[in-house]
Amino acid sequence: MNTKLTKSMDDITALCRRRGFIWQSSEIYGGVNGFWDYGPLGAALKKNLKDAWWTDTILCPPDGPDGKPLQMVPVDTTIIMNPKVWVASGHVGGFNDPMVDCRKTQARYRADHLKVYVPPVADKPLLVFVEGQEVGISKKLKKLGLAADQCAVRDFTELAPTDLARMIGPDADEPGSLTEPRQFNLMFTTHLGAVRDEESQAYLRPETAQGIFTQFWNVVDTSRVKTPFGIAQMGKSFRNEVTPRNFTFRSREFEQMEIEFFIPDPDVVGEEIAQTRRWYAWWRDHRYAWWRKVGLAGDNLILREHDRDELAHYAKDGAGTSDIEYRFPFTAPGFGELEGVAHRTNFDLRQHAQHCGRGDKMRYFDQEHNAHYFPHVIEPSAGADRGVLALLCEAYTPDADRPSGVYMKFSPRMAPIKAAILPLVAKDGMPEVAEKLYRDLRRRFAVQIDIKQNIGKRYARMDEAGTPYCFTIDGQTLSDQTVTVRDRDTLAQERIALDKVEAFLGEKIGG
Ligand code: GAP
Repeated sequence: MNTKLTKSMDDITALCRRRGFIWQSSEIYGGVNGFWDYGPLGAALKKNLKDAWWTDTILCPPDGPDGKPLQMVPVDTTIIMNPKVWVASGHVGGFNDPMVDCRKTQARYRADHLKVYVPPVADKPLLVFVEGQEVGISKKLKKLGLAADQCAVRDFTELAPTDLARMIGPDADEPGSLTEPRQFNLMFTTHLGAVRDEESQAYLRPETAQGIFTQFWNVVDTSRVKTPFGIAQMGKSFRNEVTPRNFTFRSREFEQMEIEFFIPDPDVVGEEIAQTRRWYAWWRDHRYAWWRKVGLAGDNLILREHDRDELAHYAKDGAGTSDIEYRFPFTAPGFGELEGVAHRTNFDLRQHAQHCGRGDKMRYFDQEHNAHYFPHVIEPSAGADRGVLALLCEAYTPDADRPSGVYMKFSPRMAPIKAAILPLVAKDGMPEVAEKLYRDLRRRFAVQIDIKQNIGKRYARMDEAGTPYCFTIDGQTLSDQTVTVRDRDTLAQERIALDKVEAFLGEKIGG
């Protein structure tokens, strides 16, 4: 069975809600657009993903491409920072997505997400659509007497505003309802202290990266790191997204897992020593392999190198920029970004040095090469919430042959519950044996005991929670001290000795 075709976002969202992975924030009041809460299973899943990132990139990273142990240190910086940070970083004034409104339908689109079908004849309307959402477009074209292959596809931003009057919006039927692209600042503002004026205005950070850049000098002064080294941080970021959508994919409050990896400035020490390209390629490949390792091993995960004209202002002269992308049910057949890996040059450190007024005095001193410079940066920047969403979509596996009709195929490391302990019936001494096993196992593992309901229903619950193993205590357990182990994926059941269960789990799950 091709499970890819049978996954629907509605089904996945329903399971997330039903089983307590993800709920709308403040749901009892009707929710709030762009904000999401994690329930018990979702919070555990997200923690497992963040723990894996922390362990694999900070605590126990692999050797770098130079064969030496990678130097990585963490920081934990604040959400509200001195507002000058955001002027220096280019976010104040620059952190804008031009938006287009439809006066007819009130829909709002990001201008850079819009494409236009341009017919060969000049008097026909131009059909605008959202890239990646082309469903029903051929019908609309047909109504206008056009076929897709007769038309050229152009970027909306190339044609607006000159051709606006001829354009039919993605959700409209008549031409002329789209506005010119307009700028919106995505940073949330707040005020510090009692007085609400321009002086007291501050921002919620839109990325965790700037906390790393502004503390770069303190890290260098207080730890023994030397280029090449990395500073990592995970934490909340906030963006007042104009069109939050696709479940948690584009939220207004989300969590990032960011690394700024500092290497020598190739313009000062030479590329041969700086090795920007080598480090960039290493991080790109390493991060891609990591996402595969935590459970996105199928063909829904891709690595996409950017074209030069897509690059951010700080990355234009760099070794490269790439995205690690996942094919979500709502982007299919297209992909959505999980993580960006960018050579950010030394734009941010230079900006902060200049804006805080100390300029070149803040250059880093590289003893080994006897050189002063602002280090260049390779930045792997990942979204924890998008990662969780990808894990949920990947794990969702319809299976008509089991009572739940679906199971969640999480990797053992990501699974919120590692094993369930289920007495076959709630009598004849079985709950007592189950209780003892549960108490023994929970010292090491995230396990649950479930005594109520018939066994089929309890297996179904665990299938939907993505629990890799169920240990069942039955009549035979009482006579020969063995239990059955049910494997979530194969449904195979085998008997193992009660006193071997802990070792069995340790081997399968780790920990
Ligand atoms: N410091 C670089 C930076 O912030 P970004 O591409 O804007 O780069 C990095 O964000 C990652 O953060 C994205 O790949 C995505 O996983 C996550 N992210 C960004 N905006 C998001 C949003 N509105 N909702 C959920 N995740 C988001």
